[in-house]
Amino acid sequence: MTRIIAFFNQKGGTAKTTSTLNVAAALAERGQRVLTIDLDPQASLSMAIGTDVAHLQQSVYDLLLDEDVTIADVIQPTTIAGIDIVPSHPDLAAAELELLNVLERERQLDHRLKSADLGAYDYVLIDSPPALNIISINILVAIDELVIPIEPHPLSLMVLKRLFETIRKISRLNPDLKVVGFLPTKVHHSSRLAQDMLVQLEEQFPQLPLLPSIPLSVRGAESTAERTSVLQYMPKSNVAAAYRDVGAWLEERNDDR
Ligand SMILES: Nc1ncnc2c1ncn2[C@@H]1O[C@H](COP(=O)(O)OP(=O)(O)O)[C@@H](O)[C@H]1O
Ligand SMILES: [Mg+2]
Repeated sequence: MTRIIAFFNQKGGTAKTTSTLNVAAALAERGQRVLTIDLDPQASLSMAIGTDVAHLQQSVYDLLLDEDVTIADVIQPTTIAGIDIVPSHPDLAAAELELLNVLERERQLDHRLKSADLGAYDYVLIDSPPALNIISINILVAIDELVIPIEPHPLSLMVLKRLFETIRKISRLNPDLKVVGFLPTKVHHSSRLAQDMLVQLEEQFPQLPLLPSIPLSVRGAESTAERTSVLQYMPKSNVAAAYRDVGAWLEERNDDR
C-alpha cells in the first residue's frame, strides 16, 4: 500500500520543504520508491530538487484544476534515484480563487490521487504551503498521515491550536487522517529554550510522539542551493544522519500498522 504523508504546518520556515526533500531522500536510500508532490506556489521543493519550473508544460496547478489531467501527465523524474516529483508552479497561487467555483473544491487532490494508480510508489510525500487555505485543506483531506515539522520556538506552539481545530473540522471529510507526530527541526541542542519547548510540546500533546530531531545546521540551506538533498550533498553531516533516522522511524511505524 502506498502511504500518503504530508509535511504540514501553516507557519512558514519550519523546514517543511527541507524535510519533504530529505525524508524522501532517506526513504529512497532505503530502497523505497517515492513520489513527492509540491503544493506550495513558491515551488521551493521543485526548484530544490532541480526541476526547471520556468519551462514546465504542466504542473500540480493543472492537476488540481483540469479534470482531464491525470497524475501520470504531471509526474517528472528527478536527479535523485528513486524520487519523482509532481512539480509546482507560481500559477498555483491563483488556484485558491479558481477553486471557489469548483464543486467539492476541498476534494480535488483527493479525487486525483484516488483515481490514480500509485502502485509504482511506496510513499507519496507532500510539501505544503505556509497557510491554512483551500490548498492546505485539499492536502489534509487527501492524506493518510500528517507529520508536523515544528521549530522549538514559543510562537510555534501558538499556531498548533488552529491547525488541530482545522483537522477536527475536516475529520468528516477524512475520518482516517492520522497525525503521526511532531518533527522538531532546526533544533539547537544546547539551547535551553529549544529543550523547554520540546518538553512543553510533549506535555501538551502526550499522545503525539516526537520524531527524531533535526539539528540546526547551515547544511540544510546549502544543499537547497546545490539543488539536491543533504543526504547527497553532505552524506556524513549530522543533518543527513538525522533525516536517515526519520526515514527509519517512519518505516518502523509502517511495520506496526
Ligand atoms: N536543519 C536546519 N538548520 C538550519 N536551517 C535550516 C534547517 N532546515 C532548513 N533550514 C532553513 O530554514 C529555512 C526554511 O526552511 P524550509 O524548508 O524552506 O521551510 P518551510 O518549507 O517550512 O517554509 C530555509 O532557509 C532552510 O534552508
Ligand atoms: Mg516550504
